[in-house]
Amino acid sequence: MKAVWYDRTGPAREVFQYGDLPDPQAGRGQVLIRVKASGVNPADTYLRGGALAPMAYRRVIPNSDGAGVVEAVGPGVEETVWLGKRVWFYNGQRNGRAFGSAAELIELDTDLLSVLPDQVSFAEGATLGIPCMTAHRSVFMNGAVQGQVVLVTGGAGAVGHYAVQLAKWAGATVIATVSSAEKAARARAGGADHAIDYTTEDVAARVREITGGEGVHHAVEVDLGGNLETTLKCIRQNGSLAYYASRGDPTPTLVVGNAMRLNLAITGVYLPVSPHPARRRAQADITRWIGSGARMLSVAGRFPLKACAAAHEAVEAGGKVGTVVVEP
Ligand SMILES: NC(=O)c1ccc[n+]([C@@H]2O[C@H](COP(=O)([O-])OP(=O)(O)OC[C@H]3O[C@@H](n4cnc5c(N)ncnc54)[C@H](OP(=O)(O)O)[C@@H]3O)[C@@H](O)[C@H]2O)c1
Repeated sequence: MKAVWYDRTGPAREVFQYGDLPDPQAGRGQVLIRVKASGVNPADTYLRGGALAPMAYRRVIPNSDGAGVVEAVGPGVEETVWLGKRVWFYNGQRNGRAFGSAAELIELDTDLLSVLPDQVSFAEGATLGIPCMTAHRSVFMNGAVQGQVVLVTGGAGAVGHYAVQLAKWAGATVIATVSSAEKAARARAGGADHAIDYTTEDVAARVREITGGEGVHHAVEVDLGGNLETTLKCIRQNGSLAYYASRGDPTPTLVVGNAMRLNLAITGVYLPVSPHPARRRAQADITRWIGSGARMLSVAGRFPLKACAAAHEAVEAGGKVGTVVVEP
């Protein structure tokens, strides 16, 4: 099969190789998927760049997410359930797996795949894995949000925009923070009831005003360290905060008394190792959600497989709107 791989970490253009690797085989409980689109997430670029950790494998095929068609099934997998099915998947290059989705074929355990409805393109399907699964976990960390007010910081981002849409779908009033009028329009189009420009407005004051002084029940946070002080002022007593990144300040200081007096639950979200039942719920909900109406699944850019380095650079450049995909 054609694939992109790296044997050492570094800049994409320097370390990516493109060529032929042996076709993988579906093992017990696995299927073989013909990859039609491979999603590139920021963490795929951090791993390849060596910023997160030294290489855990001798060789890595990058990118964790994707979508494609099941071409073969391994022992123990029912043909009638999976063979020929269009699917989207996540965790292709995580949790002990070295070979991800930047290839024509990938073999995966069936519990990492979900059926992709016919009306959703493969490129759109490849935007679901990490961003939408993380959004689901971050929104529903403490259960249902129906009737609640949910704050989503960075509500136009890949994860944030899915969080906005899922929270709205689940019956919450959604407040999003953004950094421009275009991003406000995008958050509103996804279902945000209110969009606050955090670069020009007093976010905490606006949230208090919108919620009649009460604050939100739950916050989904893209930058725990960068926003901590403000976000804590936005949450009501007995509320909760789920954070999935902290690029603005990786070592923030928490004024414990402030969080404690709110009786606040603060929880980190890291998708690859989130509890298995929660991931299964996320897959089921997301498949139901995309199958039951028009959704905004945003493809930020499309690159052929051999231009995977350019796809990684597009993510690293910042400013993407949605998820960049690579198409074998
Ligand atoms: N923990 C996990 O499992 C997990 C899963 C997925 C992603 N992540 C991480 O989450 C981060 C975002 O990923 P992504 O794919 O969603 O990126 P993205 O598409 O670039 O979205 C990030 C969004 O956050 C906004 N933003 C940045 N700093 C902000 C701040 N201080 N306050 C409010 N908004 C802010 C950005 O817009 P402006 O800069 O214009 O405000 C942008 O719209 C990355 O670091 C990624 O590695 C973690």
